[in-house]
Amino acid sequence: MLMQKLRPTKMLATLILFLALSNALEINVEAREGQCENKPTLDPRPHSVSILEFGAVGDGKTLNTIAFQNAIFYLKSFADKGGAQLYLPPGRWLTGSFNLTSHLTLFLASGAIILGSQDLSYWEIVEPLPSYGRGLELPGGRYRSLINGNKLRDVVITGDNGTIDGQGSVWWDWFSSQSLNYSRPHLVELIDCNGVVISNLTFVNAPAYSIHPVYCSNVLVQNISVYTPPGSPYTVGIAPDSADKVCIENCNISMSYDGISLKSGWDEYGIAYGRPTTGVHIKQVYLQAATGSALAFGSEMSGGISDVLVEHLHIHNSSVGIEFRTTRGRGGYIKEIIVTDVEMQNVHTAFGANGQSGSHPDDNFDPNALPVLDRITVQNVIGTNITLAGSFTGIQESPFTSICLSNISLSVTSGSSTSWVCSNVLGFSQFVSPEPCPDLECSFLNSSLACFSLLNSYGQAAVL
Ligand SMILES: *[C@@H]1O[C@H](CO)[C@@H](O)[C@H](O)[C@H]1NC(C)=O
Ligand SMILES: *[C@@H]1O[C@H](CO)[C@@H](O)[C@H](O)[C@H]1NC(C)=O
Ligand SMILES: *[C@@H]1O[C@H](CO)[C@@H](O)[C@H](O)[C@H]1NC(C)=O
Ligand SMILES: *[C@@H]1O[C@H](CO)[C@@H](O)[C@H](O)[C@H]1NC(C)=O
Ligand SMILES: *[C@@H]1O[C@H](CO)[C@@H](O)[C@H](O)[C@H]1NC(C)=O
Ligand SMILES: *[C@@H]1O[C@H](CO)[C@@H](O)[C@H](O)[C@H]1NC(C)=O
Ligand SMILES: *[C@@H]1O[C@H](CO)[C@@H](O)[C@H](O)[C@H]1NC(C)=O
Ligand SMILES: *[C@@H]1O[C@H](CO)[C@@H](O)[C@H](O)[C@H]1NC(C)=O
Ligand SMILES: *[C@@H]1O[C@H](CO)[C@@H](O)[C@H](O)[C@H]1NC(C)=O
Ligand SMILES: *[C@@H]1O[C@H](CO)[C@@H](O)[C@H](O)[C@H]1NC(C)=O
Repeated sequence: MLMQKLRPTKMLATLILFLALSNALEINVEAREGQCENKPTLDPRPHSVSILEFGAVGDGKTLNTIAFQNAIFYLKSFADKGGAQLYLPPGRWLTGSFNLTSHLTLFLASGAIILGSQDLSYWEIVEPLPSYGRGLELPGGRYRSLINGNKLRDVVITGDNGTIDGQGSVWWDWFSSQSLNYSRPHLVELIDCNGVVISNLTFVNAPAYSIHPVYCSNVLVQNISVYTPPGSPYTVGIAPDSADKVCIENCNISMSYDGISLKSGWDEYGIAYGRPTTGVHIKQVYLQAATGSALAFGSEMSGGISDVLVEHLHIHNSSVGIEFRTTRGRGGYIKEIIVTDVEMQNVHTAFGANGQSGSHPDDNFDPNALPVLDRITVQNVIGTNITLAGSFTGIQESPFTSICLSNISLSVTSGSSTSWVCSNVLGFSQFVSPEPCPDLECSFLNSSLACFSLLNSYGQAAVL
């Protein structure tokens, strides 16, 4: 019966897949909890200074870069004394880019707003990230982000709902008119840091990404709002990039492009750097992505993305709900992903998996570096006003495998005959409406339980 369903060209791939799964089944995945159940305790810092003590003026006009730099330089000396807090009282604190330091808490009081300068001359150019080889948007270097951390430990950016405002409109205009010579800066970037907490704040108008933890471990993002207006080109909310042990919870993210985007480097540079994004837990998040995806994986994923648990997502007014993106030349993998308990409303395409997505950094990528997309489980989804249920277009030489859909109910406006698009994908589905394409009904996946063995390891029901 199984073989009758498959076109002959698919039989070999299916056989290989089946063998691969038989092996996989012998691996006993040890029981584990999501990263959010494992939160650090936040002790208050024994020392605190106000930015006022460093001559800062919160009038929205005076440039305070030197005050920030001096304050943080001073607070460095408390690193071995339990760390210190830099307090920002209510006010509009205009600044160019500045660096954080280890064992520091940056605290924004209610009504405290950090404003990014709109003067290009206050933005330094820095080297590209090694896993990207060049700026994302243009070859060569990139503008340094507004708030930076480099090789830090124990750094906290928090407050009583203060705001970090990138005033990105000038950057969006320069980007759109192609007048920049380097890639745009991000709002907050932490590179190679261990122990990061970002909480209780609002982030608005990022020039490009709002929060970019790259090569970091133990990152907690909790109870924040992130916003850019429609039309701000390619602005992204949170982009964990070659990062591990990441928890994102209780956040409201409304972006012009992607809400949360998991990444791990670009083609040959990402493959050579070889640092995956793994151990990510995303929980209780409201997402909106006007032109991109509410939750995206890739397209830069060359270091691999694995072991991601996403639960209790609310997605509305978005172009795509949940999307996996990759392309030839990326190498790497996206695997062992579980997404459960999702509500979607007014979303054009609920699910996407696209094997022809994104460009290359240069001509030196290896077209034979084929990415792998495997063991993706999506379950317990209710969607209303969805135009297209799913579009799964894999790569012929490396089909997407073990895509498992369960208990999904979408009210689709396009009519069910055209509501799923599939090619080069193999998976299993049960209790899914509208009924998915035959490519997602390979029942041997069910009998082998490969789809749901992952769920088991998170202590949830193996088969629904
Ligand atoms: C900020 O950090 C970068 C990278 O670590 C360094 O090159 C730069 O000099 C630092 N700037 C200041 C003002 O400390
Ligand atoms: C979330 O942050 C706001 C301030 O931004 C605070 O009033 C509220 O108590 C926080 N909630 C939680 C659950 O931490
Ligand atoms: C935080 O501040 C933003 C912007 O000022 C506001 O829209 C939001 O409602 C506030 N959130 C909380 C929890 O107070
Ligand atoms: C980009 O480079 C050109 C040529 O060097 C220069 O004229 C222009 O001002 C630069 N643009 C920006 C935004 O720095
Ligand atoms: C957020 O704010 C609430 C209320 O002030 C506080 O209880 C909580 O510890 C804060 N959370 C973090 C992670 O800073
Ligand atoms: C996010 O939005 C929900 C529903 O509107 C609200 O209950 C929650 O407090 C918001 N959270 C934050 C961090 O603003
Ligand atoms: C979402 O879109 C609907 C329909 O266009 C609109 O009525 C609603 O206000 C939007 N919701 C948000 C939160 O933007
Ligand atoms: C349905 O969703 C689309 C966006 O996909 C939106 O334009 C439209 O207004 C929504 N319809 C209703 C009735 O909310
Ligand atoms: C199916 O999904 C819905 C919506 O997420 C949920 O309420 C329900 O409990 C799920 N059913 C099963 C059997 O898990
Ligand atoms: C999947 O397997 C379970 C347990 O063996 C069985 O009860 C169920 O009917 C199967 N579903 C499909 C769609 O084959």
